[in-house]
Amino acid sequence: MLNQIRQKALKQIEAESDLKNLEAVYRQYLGKKGELTLILRSLKQMSEKQRKQKGKLANQIKKEIKQALHEKQEKEIKQAKVSKEWIDVTAPGVLPPQGHLNPITLVQRQAEEIFQSMGFSILDGPEIETEYYNFDALNIPKNHPARDLWDTFWLKNLDLILRTHTSPMQARYMEKNSPPLRIIVPGRCFRHEATDASHDFQFYQVEGLMVGSDISVANFKGIIEEFLKRFFSSDVEMRLRPGYFPFVEPGFEIDIKRKGRDWLEIMGAGMVHPNVFSSVGYKSGKWQGFAFGVGMDRLAMLKYGIDDIRLFYGNDLRFLRQF
Ligand code: FA5
Repeated sequence: MLNQIRQKALKQIEAESDLKNLEAVYRQYLGKKGELTLILRSLKQMSEKQRKQKGKLANQIKKEIKQALHEKQEKEIKQAKVSKEWIDVTAPGVLPPQGHLNPITLVQRQAEEIFQSMGFSILDGPEIETEYYNFDALNIPKNHPARDLWDTFWLKNLDLILRTHTSPMQARYMEKNSPPLRIIVPGRCFRHEATDASHDFQFYQVEGLMVGSDISVANFKGIIEEFLKRFFSSDVEMRLRPGYFPFVEPGFEIDIKRKGRDWLEIMGAGMVHPNVFSSVGYKSGKWQGFAFGVGMDRLAMLKYGIDDIRLFYGNDLRFLRQF
């Protein structure tokens, strides 16, 4: 009987690999009402001789079963760990989540690429400007009513402002470089104005400037049409309206229209005013050129069909994830 129990128990332990079931095997033989436990308990009622003989064997079997269970459990625990930690080095990795570029960045990169291919160099300018470069050098004298065209943020107790447009780089660049020249200056601008669907207090412009001995309005139109065609990958309707900017003469405002949408003003432009040339030290009458300032936010709105400029700066991931 005892040997039968031993055999049965050891066989069960060997066949079992589930840790929970091994616990059950323990209870079946060695639990409170386990088969072996009951035999050990019944020893009390036996004669001394029987008790000695059976007791020894029963205790021996108890030890064996315990040992076998212990070894099997250890083995299964190790196995479970190994299979959990096993790494398939050939499996494709999990990609970390990737961020998205803001549509303004996409527009800037594309504009840079197109103008670069037409021979323009790309420059950066300071966002904090002096009054001189933002206004005076651009033929906008102090106390001239035209200053009110730009609602300016002033830096407290300093003679500095946040640039209201990228045009100050026209003067900064021409002061140090002689024609012929072609540059673009993408960058952020600031205006102290109320926001609406197409105006924000910060926005991005790309300034363009091309100066040579015989640059005309026709060159301007040609370059801008080519830019817009490539940028929108299609012909877009464009119209030039007369516009007033003190640093150009004549000046224009350019609107464009995409199918099913209203006209949207995207840029100011014109032929560089002789006073700007003289403020940077160019010889009078020798050079001609055009300049423009195009709103990148407006370009992005048209390109991606976005109807509110404030979405660009809202940091709403649901919006940004689309690009
Ligand atoms: C200017 O800023 C001139 N510096 C442009 C220029 C450059 C004229 C060179 C002549 C020669 P304007 O204020 O119109 O002009 O702005 C130009 C473009 O910037 C606008 O057509 C528009 O696309 C964008 N823009 C202006 N203000 C805002 C605003 N508050 N929010 C978003 N975009 C704006």
